[in-house]
Amino acid sequence: MSGPIAVDLEAEKEYYYCTCGKSKGKAFCDGSHKGCGFTPMKFSVNESKEYHICTCQKSSNEPFCDGSHTK
Ligand code: FES
Repeated sequence: MSGPIAVDLEAEKEYYYCTCGKSKGKAFCDGSHKGCGFTPMKFSVNESKEYHICTCQKSSNEPFCDGSHTK
């Protein structure tokens, strides 16, 4: 069970959330997914602030933590 990471994100900037679980730069894609069939999820935010990004990949609101890692 792994909890979320807190990161400062900038409004309107494109981010790529790792969906394969292989990235060494969790929770963002570092290209390690090549050849495994997964592709990163592109996302952006409307407001520049700190966000909690899911690392357990159980959130129903990916890439954001919804508390599912505690269940
Ligand atoms: S490294 Fe996991 S989706 Fe790219």
